[in-house]
Amino acid sequence: MTAAMAATIPPPPAPAAPWAGLAATLAREPVVPAAPRPATEVLPLWRTILQLRRNAISTWGEPAYELEIVSRPFLGRTNFLVNHPDGIRRVLVDNHANYGRTPVAIRILRPVLGDGLFLADGAAWKHQRRIMAPAFAPRSLDVAARHIAQVAEETMADLMARGTNAVDLLRVMQRLALEVAGRSFFSQAMREHGPAVRTAFEHYGQRLARPSFLDFLLPAEAPSPLDAARRWLARDFRRVLDRIIAERRRTPPQDPPRDLFDVLVSARDPETGQGFTPVQLRDQIATLTIAGHETTALTLFWSCYLLTLAPEVQEEVAAEAAAVELAPEAAARAFERLPLTQAVVQEALRLYPPAFTIVRLARGPDEILGQAVPEGSVIVMAPWILHRHKKRWVHPERFDPTRFLPGAPPPDRYAYLPFGIGPRVCIGAQFALIEATVVLARLVRAFRLELVGPRRVTPVAVVTTVPDRAPVFRLTAR
Ligand code: HEM
Repeated sequence: MTAAMAATIPPPPAPAAPWAGLAATLAREPVVPAAPRPATEVLPLWRTILQLRRNAISTWGEPAYELEIVSRPFLGRTNFLVNHPDGIRRVLVDNHANYGRTPVAIRILRPVLGDGLFLADGAAWKHQRRIMAPAFAPRSLDVAARHIAQVAEETMADLMARGTNAVDLLRVMQRLALEVAGRSFFSQAMREHGPAVRTAFEHYGQRLARPSFLDFLLPAEAPSPLDAARRWLARDFRRVLDRIIAERRRTPPQDPPRDLFDVLVSARDPETGQGFTPVQLRDQIATLTIAGHETTALTLFWSCYLLTLAPEVQEEVAAEAAAVELAPEAAARAFERLPLTQAVVQEALRLYPPAFTIVRLARGPDEILGQAVPEGSVIVMAPWILHRHKKRWVHPERFDPTRFLPGAPPPDRYAYLPFGIGPRVCIGAQFALIEATVVLARLVRAFRLELVGPRRVTPVAVVTTVPDRAPVFRLTAR
């Protein structure tokens, strides 16, 4: 292993009033959620691969949280873990065209995502991204915010009706996020199709989304024994989507658009005048449904979990939410008026980034932080590590949302990457932030959240950063 150190960035000071009291409480009684212990030795290759299938977080040792770049031989090539802002900017921004998705990511994701935006490359990606941009512009997000608040309201009513003594909030948030996707993308309630989408998604995630040894070893074009199984299971998912799209197509597009589907059907690339083919449209919807709903559900789950560990923060969030109109017609404006709730969501995304790594393959040789990067190297930028890096954060292990409040110095742009950065930054970032903030505010305004039983929940990172168990919550109406 080789490692290079770079200049230390001084830690930012604590935030200012009007939240100084909360910051002081959290400084006095720090809240430190549990995390897997870093590896104590450099793992041999076979254990690294085994661990990547179980929990990627525990493949990294202590030095990864202190160094700026770590390189390691891996199956005949070099893997680089890049932590320094200049290195990340080189890969994701300045020389982004030299870096693409890895064969492992393509192998695992293509059967479900097809050639949608996440996996598209080069000119095809540019074309798709230009077409999709209006669907995520503020005007479209105002429509989405209305759907989000509506689904939040229905979920609260449902919780009240079903009883709130023993609630699996992870499940609740997964259903809610899928419902939001269904309404925002198709104007369709997911009562009928939601369970089928989740089942297909969960089967795929549990059985086939974990990379095997051969997935790493074989080049992208060589078939691996799991490929056929992946294609087979992905068919279930595509079939459900085809049914949803066929139902949705029975109503013609409207202007102004009712939902994302209307936007995508009528969208044209401003440069070429072309729209999406039916297959591209399906791949796009698959990509948005998968990329968008589980990640946002997890953000909501972790935010709720953290608020149970810090009741004083929870009370302040409840007070903030009580003072803001959260009805569907007001939801687009509500987001801006919830700075503390937003800060809790951002802190949850820091401590438990759903996308725990952003990985690229070097198409050609390059140089990162003075180190030669041969063609074929794999570059890992890990939000999990960056968000807990000892040179970028004060007390990175603590839950302290005040670091994201107005008045607090913003984190380094390249040290906080829950949504990535550069041309391939998450297209749904604002959508997700609005959803998580509005739903969290609505929930905490209605209920006091507590954990039933043990408080310890540890993150497991395989596809996304999930909890090791679904804890039981007690919700008490306020
Ligand atoms: C908290 C929730 C979310 C998180 C943490 C998240 C995270 C990310 C990250 C880190 C990337 C960049 C990957 C890279 O550079 O390789 C990404 C890309 C993407 N995300 Fe999200 N995402 C979230 C929500 C959403 C939502 C709600 C949507 C859609 C409605 C969405 C759609 C996409 C798409 C299509 C891409 C690929 C963009 C491209 O390659 O041009 N995501 N996401």
